[in-house]
Amino acid sequence: MMNPDRWAHTQAYSQEVFGREDEHLASLMDRAGAAGLPRIAVSADVGRLLKILVSLTDGMRALELGTLAGYSAIWIARGLAPEGTLTTIEYDARHAAFARTELEAAGVADRVDVVEGPALRVLPGLRESWGDGTVDFAFIDAVKSEYVAYLDMVGPMIKPGGLIVADNVYGTGAGWIDEGHGTDAFNRKIASDPAFEAVAVPLREGVLIARRS
Ligand SMILES: C[S@@+](CC[C@H](N)C(=O)[O-])C[C@H]1O[C@@H](n2cnc3c(N)ncnc32)[C@H](O)[C@@H]1O
Repeated sequence: MMNPDRWAHTQAYSQEVFGREDEHLASLMDRAGAAGLPRIAVSADVGRLLKILVSLTDGMRALELGTLAGYSAIWIARGLAPEGTLTTIEYDARHAAFARTELEAAGVADRVDVVEGPALRVLPGLRESWGDGTVDFAFIDAVKSEYVAYLDMVGPMIKPGGLIVADNVYGTGAGWIDEGHGTDAFNRKIASDPAFEAVAVPLREGVLIARRS
């Protein structure tokens, strides 16, 4: 593993240089923490990466698994095309309610639908109503041990040229990738899937980017 001091320094540098946020985003996770939500959102540099990546697609239909407080959803929504929409799935009703308030305050509630339920139960219905090959951008950030199952469901839903982005692919606070982390099987599966070209960038806990051919 990389020298932890150098890693921490690199992360701090990336935040300082690339982690600009507006006031609403900068205070969002403090409000979430005060409301008892866990502080496990993506960092601002990862948020900016999400926005840029969405804007490089057609930006019409985005999907997120794991809403938490709406932090990453706001970044994604800001990368959408003017008529684009984001559907974000959240298991915890308290998180979903908090996120709806924040999405409203950020001025993106008209383009973001927060759907409550476990991702693996919600996804089949979305797939049925949208059809395969219709999603421009999917951000996977819910249960790490379910990433492979998410890929099986979401992979066919992605449009040619569309992207799957996944967070924590190198690890989480609970364990790093070389300690048998749950996303290892996901990384290897998507890396060897001929339908996708994938790479992970070492921002925060690793962000995988995969483009559907
Ligand atoms: C890492 S947080 C998401 C952070 C958010 N994407 C962000 O960066 O702002 C993971 C979220 O997934 C939710 N979650 C847990 N199990 C889930 C499931 N089976 N389906 C959907 N969401 C789930 C958790 O309640 C939590 O809010």
